[in-house]
Amino acid sequence: SVTRHYQFDIKLQKVTRLCHTKTIVTVNGQFPGPRIIAREGDRVVVKVVNHIKDNITIHWHGIRQLRSGWADGPAYVTQCPIQTGQSYVYNFTIVGQRGTLWWHAHVSWLRSTLYGPIVILPKRNVPYPFPKPDLEAVPIIFGEWFNTDTEAIVNQAMRTGGGPNVSDAYTFNGLPGPLYNCSAQDTFRLKVKPGKTYLLRLINAALNDELFFSIANHTLTIVDVDASYIKPFTTETLLITPGQTTNVLLKTKPHFPNATFLMEARPYATGLGTFDNTTTAAILEYEHPTSKKNKTTSNTKSFPVFRPTLPKLNDTSFATKFSNTLRSLASTRFPANVPKKINRRFFFTVGLGTNPCPKNQVCQGPTNTTKFAASVNNVSFTMPTTALLQAHFFNQSKGVYTTDFPSKPVFPFNYTGTAPNNTLLSHGTKVVVLPHNTEVELVMQDTSILGAENHPLHLHGFNFYIVGSGFGNFDSNKDPAKFNLVDPVERNTVGVPAGGWVAIRFLADNPGVWFMHCHLEVHTSWGLKMAWIVLDGKLPNQKLPPPPSDLPKC
Ligand code: C2O
Repeated sequence: SVTRHYQFDIKLQKVTRLCHTKTIVTVNGQFPGPRIIAREGDRVVVKVVNHIKDNITIHWHGIRQLRSGWADGPAYVTQCPIQTGQSYVYNFTIVGQRGTLWWHAHVSWLRSTLYGPIVILPKRNVPYPFPKPDLEAVPIIFGEWFNTDTEAIVNQAMRTGGGPNVSDAYTFNGLPGPLYNCSAQDTFRLKVKPGKTYLLRLINAALNDELFFSIANHTLTIVDVDASYIKPFTTETLLITPGQTTNVLLKTKPHFPNATFLMEARPYATGLGTFDNTTTAAILEYEHPTSKKNKTTSNTKSFPVFRPTLPKLNDTSFATKFSNTLRSLASTRFPANVPKKINRRFFFTVGLGTNPCPKNQVCQGPTNTTKFAASVNNVSFTMPTTALLQAHFFNQSKGVYTTDFPSKPVFPFNYTGTAPNNTLLSHGTKVVVLPHNTEVELVMQDTSILGAENHPLHLHGFNFYIVGSGFGNFDSNKDPAKFNLVDPVERNTVGVPAGGWVAIRFLADNPGVWFMHCHLEVHTSWGLKMAWIVLDGKLPNQKLPPPPSDLPKC
């Protein structure tokens, strides 16, 4: 294994999409940002230098950060942000993961333009557990483009308590593609050769939307999700929630086709609220194998164009079936280490709620006297003004956080009903403290009040196994008997179904402070987030080392 060095210069860059030019925050002037490539076992060292006036942090989404919690990145959780003119070196080793992950800004909504792929190759001479792909395709990272400034959008939403403006387009690698007005010139082309199998990496970096994805006249064999191998299966369409990554094998046509094939992505949304319901497209471009000038499908105008058929926007039966098909490989080489003893059980409600509108103000929440808010177990998380991990490490929790996060909802009720009391919430910086190596089972129940949409819950610092899921109320007497403890899929982000629940298990073997939140950015802003503290173990290799000397100060 080797050490891979990168430098990320955070700077502004003018970018034009959909005929709107705006200044965005970028890494090294690139949008999307640079790709990190490493092998399992490598050390990655990224020096982040902040040249802009906003505070910045970078999170390495899905990297386990075993005993390197100081490098995780969420602002005010594991570090104070990097201020103007300052820098911070993120330093971590990739342990036991191979596939695709990604990095993104983790402060306010800056991740809307600050994101990029992390490609993790297996160790040298360690084969894939599936037929070796001939070639690596350029990774595809889905995003959302807003014609206006996203920071202004979130600030306005938080002030009025209303839903934020929705995006103007979805994007493939920052490009909206030909289905939008004034956008044909901004189309991503995935160049392929005929008769090959490609490993294609997909990442959903959209701020607020789950996406369906499909390629016309081609099938996708899914082999890996969230940098964990799964039992391969073939599908025409896949679903990917914000935060998730998916690796697929794409077999190209045996011969150069006289046709153009579009790849498309558009949201899966069951909510009644407003969302961006547009479709983004890109071109799967065949390079002609013989022609000297590399004739491609796209410049051959007379070729017919094929478009994929995506499920309907609210196709919950497709979404459910797809999620249930994902199974971990659970082989001898890649076993599923599902916790079986379970020392602690938690039941969390996740969903939206309301705050009263301040007097003499008109609000734009569900009513004009309320503001939207969101909570876990009726606690809407308040961000501290100093980093939780520092407060924990130096025993200075007083005034920063409390350890009384409720292990069950404060207001129990029927989650399938419409009982309005569930929208009640209180505010606080409350955490759960877990002894080292606690085996945790967590059931997350969507409250399905005030709009129904899946909540992609992301846990920092761990992979978890999704042992069960269902619709309606979780039944603690009947449902656990049906849990899959044999080959449940292993991930870092799970969609809690609208009006349903999921059960996950993880081993708390990583000392530190670990954020858990909805990866719909607007829900995080409203408070759908909390943190776990995992204590040091007794052995020296079970302890979190002290912070690096350049850790930013608040
Ligand atoms: Cu990808 Cu805390 O986030």
